[in-house]
Amino acid sequence: MKMELPILSVRPNADARSARSPHAHTHPHAEPPLRRAPSHIRHLIDSFSRPIRDLRISITDRCNFRCVYCMEPDARFLPHAELLSPAHFARLAKICTSLGIRKIRLTGGEPTLRPDLPEIIRLIRDLAKPDEIALTTNGSLCTDQSLLTWKAAGLSRLTFSLDAVDQSLFTSTTRSNSSAAEVIAAIRRAQSAGFSTIKLNAVIVRGLNDSQILPLAQLALDLNIAVRYIEYMPLDEAHAWNRDKLVPAHEILSTIQSRHPLTPIPSPDPSSTSENFLFSNPSTHAPSASVGVIAPVTRSFCNRCSRLRITAEGKVRPCLFSINEWSLRDLLLNHAESPDSDALIAQRLIDICWSKQAGHTINADSFQQPARPMSAIGG
Ligand code: 5AD
Ligand code: SF4
Repeated sequence: MKMELPILSVRPNADARSARSPHAHTHPHAEPPLRRAPSHIRHLIDSFSRPIRDLRISITDRCNFRCVYCMEPDARFLPHAELLSPAHFARLAKICTSLGIRKIRLTGGEPTLRPDLPEIIRLIRDLAKPDEIALTTNGSLCTDQSLLTWKAAGLSRLTFSLDAVDQSLFTSTTRSNSSAAEVIAAIRRAQSAGFSTIKLNAVIVRGLNDSQILPLAQLALDLNIAVRYIEYMPLDEAHAWNRDKLVPAHEILSTIQSRHPLTPIPSPDPSSTSENFLFSNPSTHAPSASVGVIAPVTRSFCNRCSRLRITAEGKVRPCLFSINEWSLRDLLLNHAESPDSDALIAQRLIDICWSKQAGHTINADSFQQPARPMSAIGG
C-alpha cells in the first residue's frame, strides 16, 4: 500500500520536503511478527536453504537524479538526522560478516551524495573486513580526487548506472542536469584510478530508451567494460510500470546479436543475477568488454538469491519486493555497542533472513508493489 502524499504546488528543496514528511518512505504498518529461526542456525540462511552472502546497504535515499523508472520529481526524503552514521553502518556490517556476509555493496539513492562516504567505506573495511566493497553510482559526482579517496579507503568495485548515450534521451530518462558525457568521463577516470572490474548498468524501458541498446553495447566495446541491461521492475515511485514498458531479456539479446554475435560466459558465481556474454568478435582493444542481462521479470533468479538489504535508516528488507521490513534502529541507537547488544542484533538478522520470502510475485495477479521505490531500498 502506498502512503497518500500531499500534492505539491511548488517544488520545495530537499530539507523542506524532509521537514514536512519525516517518514517519506517508511512503511505505514506496524512491524509484522518475525519467524524465529531454529536455535542451531547461527548464520544468515533462509528457510529455503539459501545462504545469504551479499549485503546491500542504502546509505542515503536522496538522489540528484530523478530517473523516470525510479523517483518522481517531487520525491521526499528522510531527514538527515534519521540516516545512520558511518559507525552504525560499520557495526551492522561487522555483525553481518560474522554471520556469513562476504560482499557488501553501498547503494542509494545516490551514495556519493554522502560527504562521509570515505569514512563509511574505511570503517566497513577495517571493522567488517568483507571480501569486497562495491559501490553503485550514477557517476555524476565522481572526481579524480574522490575516486582515489574511495579506493584508498577500501572500495574494490564500481558499478555505474547509464541508461542512454544520446544526450536528449539521457536527460529525459534521468531528469537531471548531468550528461552522458560526464558519466562516460567518470568511467574513464575510474579506469585511470585503477578500478579494474567496472560495470555499467542500464535499465531499459520501452518507448523511453530502448533505442539505446546498441549504442550502449558499442560503449562497452569502446570502454572495454561490462554492460548489463536490467529489465524494468515495478519499483518506480510513480507506479507507472506495466508489461508493455518491459523490454524482455530475449529481445535485448536479439537486438544486440543483430549487430554483435555473442558467446555465453558460464557463470562462476551461482548467485549471480546476470546472464553474461562475450562479444564473439571484439576489437583487439576490448578483450574485457561483455554484455549481460539481468532479467528479474522474465527469467527470475529468486531461487538463487543470496541478498539482504539494509536501508539508510536501519531497516532490514530480506527481498527487494518485501512488503515487510524490520528495524534495527532501536537496537543500534539505544543499546551502546557491547557483545550483548551485538548478539541481539545478530539474532534479529538471523530471524529476518529466516523470514525471507521465496521470491517476488511480479508475474502473479495478486502482485502488490512495495511502498518503497528503488531509491529508498537500494538496488
Ligand atoms: N527497475 C529496474 N532497475 C531499477 N533501478 C532503479 N529503479 C529500477 C527499476 N524500477 C536500478 C538503477 C540502478 C540500480 C541501483 O537499480 O538503474 O542501476
Ligand atoms: Fe537516482 Fe539511481 Fe533512482 Fe536514478 S535510479 S533516481 S540515479 S537512485
